[in-house]
Amino acid sequence: MSPQATSGPRRVVAIVLAAGLGTRMHSRVPKVLHPLCGRPLLAYVLDAARAATGERPLVVTSPQTAAIRAAFGDEVDWAFQASPRGTGDALRAALDVLPADVGEVLVLSGDVPRLRGDLLEELLDQRRLDQAAFALTAVAAFDPTGLGRVVRNEAGGVERIVEEKDATEDERELGEINAGLYAFDVDWLRDRIHTLMPSPATGELYLTELVHMARADGRLVASLDVDDDGRLLGINDRAQLAQAEWDMRTELNESWMRRGVTMRDPSTVYLDATVELAEDVTLEPNVTLRGSTRVGEGTTIAAGSTIIDSVIGRDCHVWASIIEHSELEDAVRVGPFAHLRPGTSVGRGAEVGNYAELKNTRLGPGVKQHHMSYLGDAELGADTNVGAGTITANFDGKVKHRTTIGKGAFLGVDTMLIAPVVVGDGAKTGAGAVVTHDVPAGTLAVGVPARIRTPRPPAEDESAR
Ligand code: UD1
Ligand code: MG
Repeated sequence: MSPQATSGPRRVVAIVLAAGLGTRMHSRVPKVLHPLCGRPLLAYVLDAARAATGERPLVVTSPQTAAIRAAFGDEVDWAFQASPRGTGDALRAALDVLPADVGEVLVLSGDVPRLRGDLLEELLDQRRLDQAAFALTAVAAFDPTGLGRVVRNEAGGVERIVEEKDATEDERELGEINAGLYAFDVDWLRDRIHTLMPSPATGELYLTELVHMARADGRLVASLDVDDDGRLLGINDRAQLAQAEWDMRTELNESWMRRGVTMRDPSTVYLDATVELAEDVTLEPNVTLRGSTRVGEGTTIAAGSTIIDSVIGRDCHVWASIIEHSELEDAVRVGPFAHLRPGTSVGRGAEVGNYAELKNTRLGPGVKQHHMSYLGDAELGADTNVGAGTITANFDGKVKHRTTIGKGAFLGVDTMLIAPVVVGDGAKTGAGAVVTHDVPAGTLAVGVPARIRTPRPPAEDESAR
């Protein structure tokens, strides 16, 4: 049933096939949700689809790939393939819900993440130019293994696509592959999609059989012929996923270096595509930056650091440390071997050193926490010094409690802070103090459990250092 042609220009929508089982991945996770430089494969395909059409893509999923809907929500429109019986059946499911005012569709596989939007525009142009029933993308592949081969007639026209598993030995020798990216005339497609027959070899409905049908109808199948730059080879297994990751990472690192980022060994720098870096950032070997991480100008992330979803200020230095969901203001030093867990914020010029662990904690500007120490659910005012071994006992076995420490306080080595507890501005604790009650500003707490002493005169204080 063809919808009536409308007088105005008809819309172009991209249909993305993502209902397949992805059996070659051997995974519980649908193939198109596997990450590539930190984003699911499908996210890249959707970007290219939107760039080429300016419309919301229509994505086909099946019960087996329901997790995809949960991941992308109402960012796209959805079609449903009850059981994944092949790419032809997936396209049929999409056409069932495609609005009648759509005149052309791009059909894309969800597993070709490195394609570019401008290639899809060329594909649309090629079909229009040749007035073809549809246009496909043919790649002269260095390694055609596993992919459908393009069979041409003597005049060079596309005659058939043969899947590798159905191909004869001669056909397998053909080096030109079908990239699985198409532009269709929707009227022709709606007429023909219901006449697809299952493959005798696999029982699947192959979208690629539409080539044969168009030819039988006397219609042309156009081809956009492209050289193999590795971008259009679909990802079917984890070895291909690793290759795509390598290629994308190399490109991404190169592009950051051209924008002012120093990498001493880019082959060991792992950046998600979502990370943002300023000029004069230096990334030493074995650095991983993930998610929404942003790094400010002049900052060095030194060897062996992993930073996840965090904001790092300007002129900071982070060395061999792990930082998750945290924020560093400017000129902060972290590491080596510190762990900043979610909810940590470190004020300007503060220093967090060896074997320090922080969680849901705010360090004011200039705080020093140099040696093995745990601060959880705490707030520390400016310029407070945290002695080696200081620990907040923030958990009583049932509930987490907060610790509040004022400005310019001095926590002696091995101070235990039994939360909830407040230590006032300028207060001090003696070595090994177990602080069970609040310490008023300017006083000294010593012993187990800690008792409050009157402050010593300043002169004596100086000579005691
Ligand atoms: C397909 C092409 C092949 C081409 C290759 C390019 C067919 C028959 N073969 O093979 O010619 O060289 O892509 O990468 O089309 N899908 C569904 N429902 C299904 C089956 C698949 O939505 O029932 C989706 C998958 O999720 C995937 C896409 O269609 O995103 C392609 O499926 P896949 O199994 O990877 O096809 P290939 O064997 O790679
Ligand atoms: Mg594939």
